[in-house]
Amino acid sequence: MSNQVALITGGATGIGKAVALKLVTSGVTVVLSGRRQNIGDAAVAEVTAAARNGAQVRFVQNDVTDEVAVKAMIDGIVAEFGRLDMAVNNAAISNETGTLVTSSSQNFRDMVDTNILGVYYTMKHEISQMLKQGAGAIVNLASIAGLNGIPYSGPYAATKHAVMGLTKSSALDHATQGLRINAVAPGAIKTDIIAAQLEGNDENYNAASISAMHPMNRLGQPDEVANAICWLLSDEASFVTGHVLSVDGGFQAK
Ligand SMILES: NC(=O)c1ccc[n+]([C@@H]2O[C@H](COP(=O)([O-])OP(=O)(O)OC[C@H]3O[C@@H](n4cnc5c(N)ncnc54)[C@H](O)[C@@H]3O)[C@@H](O)[C@H]2O)c1
Repeated sequence: MSNQVALITGGATGIGKAVALKLVTSGVTVVLSGRRQNIGDAAVAEVTAAARNGAQVRFVQNDVTDEVAVKAMIDGIVAEFGRLDMAVNNAAISNETGTLVTSSSQNFRDMVDTNILGVYYTMKHEISQMLKQGAGAIVNLASIAGLNGIPYSGPYAATKHAVMGLTKSSALDHATQGLRINAVAPGAIKTDIIAAQLEGNDENYNAASISAMHPMNRLGQPDEVANAICWLLSDEASFVTGHVLSVDGGFQAK
């Protein structure tokens, strides 16, 4: 993978940072995007320390809900590095832990903006560049909540089902043009996005109940998802497109 260039949205934390740490050890230059400069600066220092074979690391302050800014970010990557070989559309939020009855419409709109439109904007401009190159690999972050109903997660689950539709349909659109577009569907992974639920005292939704949803009866680690993403990005997965790879401790087998 040496000399290749990857964009990871929301890449300064959690699963995205774990992907970056793996890619730079193979010599891939990574551009991390996110909203918070201080978190981005810390991630750049950590990922740069792991870089090998000339891999470079950048952080771009960027909100995936702003299409103009997303296009400018991708144009900037191409201006600096000449190409975009890989993209991990990872930025997302999860802001509800109740039923639809108790949920807020504004929270749902915010998730639609980030989790659906954010993935749509980034895919649109990544694919546009990759078509010029005749090559590229994209991995979108879906979820077990993109394949199943998950209690107390209706609006989030709706947004992750949408990611499946964007992934599979665009994989078909570009299957003969050198592009591969896949998704991973993680189970519960120990990162910031579920920290509030893990630390909270909700009797229906807590660390023990979330672990017990998985046959392995534990949470996953960011590295375990990053391994699957890096495989899908690599030439090892050259005949794989439109696929959703579950990384979920057996959840999907139930
Ligand atoms: N952790 C889990 O249990 C789990 C399970 C299934 C799927 N996922 C998915 O994995 C992905 C990564 O999540 P994570 O677990 O690493 O959590 P995380 O919160 O560490 O990562 C999400 C990142 O996206 C960023 N982000 C949010 N909104 C953004 C925006 N508008 N613009 C740019 N960046 C934005 C956040 O700041 C954060 O850095 C997400 O798509 C999430 O839905 C996570």
